[in-house]
Amino acid sequence: MATYLLPDHDACYNPKPINGDNQIQTEEQEAYDQKLDAMIATLPKNKGWRSQYIFRYKGFWASREVIRGQLLIGDHFHPQPTDIFLAAFMKCGTTWLKALMFATVNRQRYNFSDHPLLRTGPQSVFPFLDTHIFLDHPITNFDHLPAPRLFATHNAHSSLPTSMTSPASTCKFVYVCRDPKDALISKWHFMRKLRSKELPPISFNEAFELFCNGVSEYGPFWDHVLGYWKASQESPEKILFLKYEDMKREPTVELKKLAAFMGTPFTEEEEKKGVVEEIVKLCSFENLSNLEVNKGGGGGQKFTAKVVVENREFFRKGKVGDWENYLTEEMKNRIDTITINRLKGSGLIMGATKTLI
Ligand code: A3P
Repeated sequence: MATYLLPDHDACYNPKPINGDNQIQTEEQEAYDQKLDAMIATLPKNKGWRSQYIFRYKGFWASREVIRGQLLIGDHFHPQPTDIFLAAFMKCGTTWLKALMFATVNRQRYNFSDHPLLRTGPQSVFPFLDTHIFLDHPITNFDHLPAPRLFATHNAHSSLPTSMTSPASTCKFVYVCRDPKDALISKWHFMRKLRSKELPPISFNEAFELFCNGVSEYGPFWDHVLGYWKASQESPEKILFLKYEDMKREPTVELKKLAAFMGTPFTEEEEKKGVVEEIVKLCSFENLSNLEVNKGGGGGQKFTAKVVVENREFFRKGKVGDWENYLTEEMKNRIDTITINRLKGSGLIMGATKTLI
């Protein structure tokens, strides 16, 4: 069974398989999977970045496992009113936000010099709902996690059940968005490492073409961002929309916003004591990427029974604008034009929100 933090003294943080030892009958499982495969066979398919194929399901591209996870979340996940979900398109800052949210919510429990993040890395403190839902056969039960439960998802807003997203639900979402040019570069690097060695590698030009056409896991990128953006405009108390670029520029300002949104605002005394800066430092790329647990092999995130991604793969450069090293002027213009056209009228502008004087 996969184990989630992680307060090491806190055994109740471990999700448990529903049914415990009374696991679902293999035949039942097989019948379920057959139905899933029959449904998937009817979907449009295209080239996957990690696996051979991805499928267009309810407007978004996803692997078989992710579609399976979406169905299971819809059928079996029971959101609690205090749940907080971290949502993002792949490679837009999930790891960073996991660390910041966990450290902020639990700041009374740990001191910064001996913090669990220093020993485990950000992936282990936050269940990745999309696939963790089925990691513990047959369904993972998260009921024992302490409130507020923190979950990460890459699923599009419209791919999640209304029990999580409807205005009647009090669950909160933190969404982090990033310039699609940087998300593309980051995703290509990440996925080529994860790609099955039995498949031919995906060249950068091919990835670029697929990305522009919206074909990449959890894509189209722009639909993903717009779904959460629109929902955040309609229900700002339910969805906080952040940008990677703003966080790089003014991390303390963004962290204060995040803490207040999660219902754990920093007190004046905490601010005077420098708690905000401590958390920013603890969760910085420089600090986290240089920790033994995130540099070497060992810890990581289990995506499926076969795919475990080591912590170090979640840290590359951590910069804004690395796309300049990869995209030609023509490629840059093509993505920017798609972005301008797709975001027209939404009020959303990619990149940092304001310039510092
Ligand atoms: P790059 O590949 O551009 O370096 P995700 O966590 O959503 O998978 O996103 C990974 C991206 O966030 C990678 O971007 C990674 O280097 C960067 N990243 C990871 N931890 C970070 C941190 N603490 N601060 C800033 N960026 C971080």
